[in-house]
Amino acid sequence: MRRKYIISVASHKGGVGRTTTVAALGTLLARQGEKTLLIDMDSQRNLTSTFLGIKYMPRTTVFDAFCNEADLPIINIGENLDLVPSSIEMGGLESIIMKRPGRESILAGLLQSIKNLYDIILIDCPSQNWIGMLNSFVASTSVLIPICCDSYAAEGLIQVTQMVELASYSFNPILAVDGIVLTRYNGRRTLDVAIEQELKSHYGSLVMNTRIRENSKLVQAALLGQDIFTYDPDCNGAIDYANLLEEIKLKLEKI
Ligand SMILES: Nc1ncnc2c1ncn2[C@@H]1O[C@H](COP(=O)(O)OP(=O)(O)O)[C@@H](O)[C@H]1O
Ligand SMILES: [Mg+2]
Repeated sequence: MRRKYIISVASHKGGVGRTTTVAALGTLLARQGEKTLLIDMDSQRNLTSTFLGIKYMPRTTVFDAFCNEADLPIINIGENLDLVPSSIEMGGLESIIMKRPGRESILAGLLQSIKNLYDIILIDCPSQNWIGMLNSFVASTSVLIPICCDSYAAEGLIQVTQMVELASYSFNPILAVDGIVLTRYNGRRTLDVAIEQELKSHYGSLVMNTRIRENSKLVQAALLGQDIFTYDPDCNGAIDYANLLEEIKLKLEKI
């Protein structure tokens, strides 16, 4: 990659494929030789358990770094691939940092001294914790928004784009939306096709051409704590995420 990027993968709704997207893109980038850091900001800590197992509880997490202003804890999880783990305490972040001056720039500050060690940093954003999401956006160069095709997809999208506008207007003018990616897509469902058309008519080329199709292999791989490219490199999930990464790279090079 030509420059360094920090990308927030964000949505206001849970279950839309944020964690799956961060895990797949991160694994692939690392395999391609890019020094990659994944940051789990979500109190559900699904990204952490995908890579470290459900039972493993790291001694320090992103939460400790936020509270104590200590360094971000970094765990090596593969060649070129590091992880900052999360904990369920991230759900209570708001009450702890609310009164702190510069509360929206804490993650940006924590990344200051380490971001140059990486070619790319991917942040798995929380869906309900607005201060966690704002911190992610203030620290990022861009945002990728996964959208799952259901009737409320568009509503969640408006909330994220408003948060991007707030972050960019008030704190981080370089922040941009890389794209909106349809996940768990099934071209035989009329709802999915209709939602894609509606999104394209509102957001035009921001909607990525690559769709991530519904693929149970992605669920199975996550349950086994394996990345999709190890689990089944030929399945639709692996193919779609590889195509998505190529499309994102082309977009980033144009910015
Ligand atoms: N393309 C897909 N096809 C089928 N299941 C998927 C797909 N993407 C994600 N999933 C599954 O859907 C659930 C929610 O995905 P996840 O990535 O955890 O969403 P989020 O992080 O937005 O809450 C998980 O069980 C995941 O394995
Ligand atoms: Mg998640």
